[in-house]
Amino acid sequence: KITPVILCGGSGTRLWPLSRKSYPKQFVPLVGNQTLFQSSVLRMTGGALDFAGPLVLTNSDFRFIVTEQLASIGIDPGAVLIEPEGRNTGPAVLAAALYLAKSAPEAVMLVAPSDHLIPDKAAFQAAVEAGLKAVQEGQLVTFGIAPTHPETAYGYLELSAVPDSVSQPVTLSRFVEKPDAARAAEMLAAGNFMWNAGIFLFRASDIVAAFQACAPALLEPVSKAVDGAEPDLGFLRLASDPWSRAENVSIDYAVMEKATNLSVVPFAGAWSDLGGWDAVWRETGPDETGTVTTGEAIAIDCENSLLRSDSTALELVGIGLKNVIAIAMNDAVLVADMSRAQDVKQAVSALKAKA
Ligand code: GDD
Ligand code: MG
Repeated sequence: KITPVILCGGSGTRLWPLSRKSYPKQFVPLVGNQTLFQSSVLRMTGGALDFAGPLVLTNSDFRFIVTEQLASIGIDPGAVLIEPEGRNTGPAVLAAALYLAKSAPEAVMLVAPSDHLIPDKAAFQAAVEAGLKAVQEGQLVTFGIAPTHPETAYGYLELSAVPDSVSQPVTLSRFVEKPDAARAAEMLAAGNFMWNAGIFLFRASDIVAAFQACAPALLEPVSKAVDGAEPDLGFLRLASDPWSRAENVSIDYAVMEKATNLSVVPFAGAWSDLGGWDAVWRETGPDETGTVTTGEAIAIDCENSLLRSDSTALELVGIGLKNVIAIAMNDAVLVADMSRAQDVKQAVSALKAKA
């Protein structure tokens, strides 16, 4: 059995005003009718592989959104672990591994973010299946995306060899998390690097051993937090004192950059981390004028624009717009040039500074 481990912590400020601190992007139907969280969960059900109920890691603020959204798609979670505070993905994954290892050290974990778009479920599951072989050999398996530009927001995977066929695991010679622009450009030009999709497959015992070797200081606080976890309304709340002593670090920096037993399965299917409104526009499938309208929005003679109203109280009409993002909510409106999609996070800082 494979246990899906769903990470549900972040907030995603680049999709303001839809993504909010109290209701981040993974819980909003951004593309299609399901939320990203729901489609992430459903991607790890059914098919030829044997999946256990998902283990969800989240915080107190999101716990009821999580159970509601699972219930509405008919999924019973294996467990929902609550982090007393966000300590990033390193402690979160280690907590999941220690929790699972208690009953089954050989348990295989499929760790996935809750905010990505991977439309082809069958292709995704085929890649997971291909990774299982390497997992049985004690490897920590990553999934690689063919890079298209020198992105600095992703991890880079250096392949030790050219894969002989699609979806065959290849060992990694290096993992480089979030390089600066110059290094990203070098790796893109080198041709033997892929982007890290942010999805991982390994045995609970192997990732615990990797934390022991690469980030030993996390073991003591995180195991105490797991051992001291208390049931709370059907959730399992990690013990806050030891948890607050765990370093705030991502699994990428804590383990992946240091581990020596890494493999990658190249993933050829579509993948997007929906890192901005421009990505949402692209992934929603613009019409022949390049325009996307969602909700209560009307576009007249617009080109390459995204018009979206999630408010039933607001009609949004755009006329003669080019390369514009316009998003209306009950309490906020964003109007931006498409090329400035990445700067939307500045809106959130500006509003915070004003408050
Ligand atoms: N439970 C929990 N607790 N989840 C968390 C926490 C936390 O403290 N912090 C982040 N997450 C969740 C986020 O909600 C997201 O679903 C996932 O973990 C990854 O975290 P991000 O903060 O989005 O990471 P990133 O995008 O900067 O980088 C990662 O993903 C890239 C691909 O999108 C890395 O793995 C990169 O190497 C990778 O390229
Ligand atoms: Mg991310």
